[in-house]
Amino acid sequence: MKYVIGNWKMNGNMAEKDSLLKSLKNVRTDNKVVICLPFTLLCGNTFGITIGAQDISEHTNGAYTGDISGAMLIESDVKYVLVGHSERRFYHHETNDIVKAKATAAIQNKIIPIICVGETADEKNAGRTMSVVKKMVLESVPKSGNYIIAYEPRWAIGKGVTPSANEITAVHETIFKTLRGIKKENTPVIYGGSVDAGNAGTIANLPHVDGLLIGRASLKSDTLLPIIKTIKE
Ligand code: 13P
Repeated sequence: MKYVIGNWKMNGNMAEKDSLLKSLKNVRTDNKVVICLPFTLLCGNTFGITIGAQDISEHTNGAYTGDISGAMLIESDVKYVLVGHSERRFYHHETNDIVKAKATAAIQNKIIPIICVGETADEKNAGRTMSVVKKMVLESVPKSGNYIIAYEPRWAIGKGVTPSANEITAVHETIFKTLRGIKKENTPVIYGGSVDAGNAGTIANLPHVDGLLIGRASLKSDTLLPIIKTIKE
């Protein structure tokens, strides 16, 4: 079983959500498919498809205008939540400490956090990918509970470029060893960044790659369904 997780980011409307989830309903697959929707699309019919959110407050409740708590997400039957996506880290200045607090809040509400890590182009060019990713993992994961790590090199997101198979394997191996060092070697590690039907099968079958996190190609069934079908269980 591989994870195939869509991240709609700030895209879509109710009709488009209904259309995609309905089309997924008829797909026979052993892969675990999850669609992470904008907050406003989390209510309504999910057609039996597992849905996730894209952010969660680290707080339980109170005067945090605009934030959404874990208890609120549960009411919408949310099972997964992205935390520390690079767009949250960049546009909303989320630090590893904040990401860790959000992941902890998710676990307290029985929602599985998908903790995103990844280096910038400058960090990659300076040869710092491994040290940056390792530090992000160690500082962003909660003390206990189950989670997923998503490796998303920032320079590959939305750019139509991906790291080579060797580069992805090397980073995922580093993440695996980092997790083994804290006795969390069973944690799934998924890859995200310009995944499409052409590269999904190859990437998903690399060592230590437990699935994919997909942005643009998750928005429509004609781009998402071929990805799900191409991944060997
Ligand atoms: P793209 O697949 O559009 O590059 O986005 C990747 C991503 O950020 C998923 O979280």
